[in-house]
Amino acid sequence: MRNKIAAYLKEVEAFSAEKPEQLEEFRIKFLSKKGLIPALFADFKFIPAEQRKETGKLINRLKTEVLEKIVQLKDTMDSQNEGVGSGFDLSLPAMDPLGSRHPLSIVRNEIIDIFSRIGFTVSEGPEIEDDFHNFSALNFPEDHPARDMQDTFFIEKNPDLALRTHTSSVQVRVMENSQPPLRTISPGRVFRNEAISARAHCIFHQVEGLYVDEGVSFTDLKQTLFYFARELFGEHTKIRFRPSYFPFTEPSAEMDVSCNICGGKGCNICKYTGWVEILGCGMVDPNVLKSCNIDSEKYTGFAFGMGIERITMLKYQVNDLRLFFENDLRFLNQFKSAR
Ligand code: PHE
Repeated sequence: MRNKIAAYLKEVEAFSAEKPEQLEEFRIKFLSKKGLIPALFADFKFIPAEQRKETGKLINRLKTEVLEKIVQLKDTMDSQNEGVGSGFDLSLPAMDPLGSRHPLSIVRNEIIDIFSRIGFTVSEGPEIEDDFHNFSALNFPEDHPARDMQDTFFIEKNPDLALRTHTSSVQVRVMENSQPPLRTISPGRVFRNEAISARAHCIFHQVEGLYVDEGVSFTDLKQTLFYFARELFGEHTKIRFRPSYFPFTEPSAEMDVSCNICGGKGCNICKYTGWVEILGCGMVDPNVLKSCNIDSEKYTGFAFGMGIERITMLKYQVNDLRLFFENDLRFLNQFKSAR
């Protein structure tokens, strides 16, 4: 019997299988009810008593080796199934990711990136805003025509609430809750009751920025926005400021950048002026600081705000703003490499 077992052990050791069926045959041969190992146990009673201990050990060893062999071969087969040989080649490079970022997200992230490099944090706030944060704190007097500058969607049930018309409201919240130095930008969705066209939509996206500290001047504003324009549109970009009006800044300005399409020579994008307007800005009106409990004698600040759609249109030469909201894959797929 011992010779028999030794021969089985050799057989088990040498056994190998490529297919699950071969492995199953092997299992049946040794372990099934009528298999070789139960047969050995059945013959056990014929063994002389003094050999039983030794032989019992051998049979158990055989059984263990059979079981181990099965587990080991099964593991090998499983790992092959996951990889080469089963139609999957793990050494191939990954497929192109299926989705792509929306162009507005690409540009928003780029703007956030540019400002975070010079210490601006990102702040967010609610899209449904009260009159104080969207208007009053920003120095829009009650019943002042300035409130008509931005055609507002009011909430019918509560006229004190409206869909925010700009993310300046977020900056009011930042100023209320913290003291200077403040350096933050607020990206977000805003709403204005405007007819939808190639150049306007009732929903669009903004990034507004705020910097409040001791001794902040218009020079700081200019230099910060110059840095921003060059980072976004390229190092040869020029900027210019034109006087403007916003209730919350004094003085106020609009900033143009040299047309990134024609380089300032004149084309249909810049309407042959060489310049395109990209943002509004100015020194924070002291009344705004006061509304937010910031000492307007001690601190000054600058603020700016821009539309992400407009900047994306300039950067990627998109000629119709409505394309951003239609989610046509032929449009979106063109931004796959941009990220
Ligand atoms: N809040 C203004 C707008 O929505 C933009 C702006 C922000 C202008 C800050 C000046 C200063 O148009």
